[in-house]
Amino acid sequence: MHYKRILLKLSGEALMGERQYGIDPKRLAEYAKEIKQVVNQGIEVAIVIGGGNIFRGVAGAANGMDRVQGDHMGMLATCINGLALQSALEDEGVITRLQTALEIKEIAEPYIKRKAIRHLEKKRVVIFGAGTGNPYFTTDTAAVLRAIEVNADAILKGTRVDGIYNVDPEKDENATKYETITFKEVIDKGLKVMDMTAFTLSEENKLPIIVFDMNTNGNLLKLISGGNIGTIVSN
Ligand code: GTP
Repeated sequence: MHYKRILLKLSGEALMGERQYGIDPKRLAEYAKEIKQVVNQGIEVAIVIGGGNIFRGVAGAANGMDRVQGDHMGMLATCINGLALQSALEDEGVITRLQTALEIKEIAEPYIKRKAIRHLEKKRVVIFGAGTGNPYFTTDTAAVLRAIEVNADAILKGTRVDGIYNVDPEKDENATKYETITFKEVIDKGLKVMDMTAFTLSEENKLPIIVFDMNTNGNLLKLISGGNIGTIVSN
């Protein structure tokens, strides 16, 4: 296997499946099956999930809501998604632990780095909720931060496109995909992979980011088996 420990970043929107809002149980179950496949290979899996299917702080702010208030609502949304994913994984017989950056002890463990690493060593899937616990930071930043903290080999960013293209592949049919690209090239070419806070944190800590299509069955397993899937961003 190419990787021993990964951090999988899933967007909240992806959980909507065909819906306009909330969680599609079918999509959730599919993701749980994909994740189970890699856990069965002995890969240690940590997950950060967004909350945009329920609430986005930035969107709240655009509608006149206080930004910090909105971001707090977004953090709670990630906890809801974390609970849903935990439940779906357990339905598949995958052992999980949910740790949150904000304390909601009756519902989940608080985030404790050493405990998270111990869970991973015991092959439990660890889901990190509530982002970084701070407003103004995205769940992409939370994903990079947690990946660095638990010493993950790479961050796997599951999206609906199969990698990074020179131009938007949904708008231009001549778009070409990069198999590998450096952090510097992404910045020089003005490509969008993650927000700059997340991106530079990853670059400074030499943590590779792999952008791939999470909605194609078997892709996650292929990727960790060394298959030519997605785009790898590295130093
Ligand atoms: P080890 O004993 O270290 O292998 O880990 P463990 O997670 O099995 O032990 P622990 O006793 O910490 O946890 C047992 C169960 O309680 C697990 O399902 C944890 O997720 C859960 N748990 C642990 N701490 C908390 C907490 O603060 N709040 C909530 N809600 N659950 C917790």
